[in-house]
Amino acid sequence: MTQVEHTEQASVKDTPLVPIEKVVSLSKRRGFVYPNSEIYGGVAGIYDFGPLGVEMRNNIRRYWWWSMVQNHDNVVGIEGATITHPRVWEASGHVENFVDRLVDCKKCKRRFRTDHLEPENLEQHKCPVCGGELTTEPRVFNLLMETYLGVVEGDRMKTYLRGEACQNIYLDYDNVLKSSRVQIPFGIAQIGKAYRNEVTPGNFLFRQREFEQWDLQFFVHPGEMDKWYEYWKEFRFNWYTNLINHKDRLRFREHGSDELAHYARKAYDVEYRTVLGWQEWEGIHWRQDWDLSRHSEYSGQDLRYTDPLTKERYMPWIVETSGGVDRTFLNLLLDAYEEEPDPNGKEPRTVLHLHPWVAPVKVAILPLQKNKEELVSTARSIHKNLQRYMVSQYDDVANIGRRYRRQDEIGTPFCVTIDFQTLDDQTVTVRERDGMTQIRLPISELTMYLLDRVTWK
Ligand code: GAP
Repeated sequence: MTQVEHTEQASVKDTPLVPIEKVVSLSKRRGFVYPNSEIYGGVAGIYDFGPLGVEMRNNIRRYWWWSMVQNHDNVVGIEGATITHPRVWEASGHVENFVDRLVDCKKCKRRFRTDHLEPENLEQHKCPVCGGELTTEPRVFNLLMETYLGVVEGDRMKTYLRGEACQNIYLDYDNVLKSSRVQIPFGIAQIGKAYRNEVTPGNFLFRQREFEQWDLQFFVHPGEMDKWYEYWKEFRFNWYTNLINHKDRLRFREHGSDELAHYARKAYDVEYRTVLGWQEWEGIHWRQDWDLSRHSEYSGQDLRYTDPLTKERYMPWIVETSGGVDRTFLNLLLDAYEEEPDPNGKEPRTVLHLHPWVAPVKVAILPLQKNKEELVSTARSIHKNLQRYMVSQYDDVANIGRRYRRQDEIGTPFCVTIDFQTLDDQTVTVRERDGMTQIRLPISELTMYLLDRVTWK
């Protein structure tokens, strides 16, 4: 049997910036994201992920791991605990420096982070919302979340939930070096939770108190720092470019000396433009020898590296690429969401133009009628077979148009319809989400056709 025709995925038009409320509403309605503890009134800055959200998150994580670890001979992965010895956070500089400075408006009582205010508002102590007077001396808040180990009052040890996930990488650096066959230059990668007592959480997943980060810490000889910094900077920018429709909404921005984090000597942010303006998506930080030197000093362990060939002994320098899983999730939803007007004046089509690699459901299997036994059993067997390779949804409820719409709204890239012709010639209709084009394909070719399009490469 031959394939009737082949159509490439349609490119997505430039669409207006999407209000955050649209994706908040869709996320809850369709099971991507829920407010945490909602039946108790919720907790600001903390969210849970629903059935579709967890699939999409796993896809995003797996694509990161695949490209950063599996595809780099010189990168290995770890998974560290979210609680560490409290001295870690003194050594890292977070106890001293991980702070937000806040001023209050005396009139409207709103609270602002000084680094979020325009210079003129800061200089004139003028509220950007009501024009009232701002307090002059900023109040300082540390973002680390405290916790206690032990049960006996008086013997309990105060420590912190990790404020940045990457600290485990420096703590495990020496163990990785001794237990695997890595040599400098090499990287350690990790995906994991971080916690921050953000004073101004908000904008849905953008600024949360519990969130997930992916980090690569790449250890190099100081003389090779420039080369590797440029390599990872470009690699990470291209990584994001691959996933988005609106490539012109991605850019680099270099940090000014007044905004560098305490551990960074230089930093570029990969920024993405949404209704919130240009905002950080990932930071590429020149951490130099800050972390290993500080942990050497505070722990008393010598963390210098000895080159096996030259025997040179030196403290490695570090390139860090650090991004947010949740911020990626949010940006991809904002990038993908569209309410497409219907040419016949009917209800607009809500569609998520998600890259097939990250879409939570890859294919929907739709028998044309649910009361025709042969259609249903063929459709069920196609669905059962595809489930071995990808997330497939079987749906026989409502007319075919309604079913397409349901799948478009959650970003399913392909719908497969089983109709009466299927029973005659063993072909099915494959409908593609963005262009809504349809082709006929033999059932025997369906799995490979879909795998080729939904698997990252
Ligand atoms: N280890 C370096 C580090 O933590 P960062 O710029 O503070 O650097 C890295 O965080 C990334 O983590 C950010 O680019 C952002 O994507 C994500 N992120 C940071 N704070 C966040 C928050 N409160 N909520 C959600 N994501 C956050």
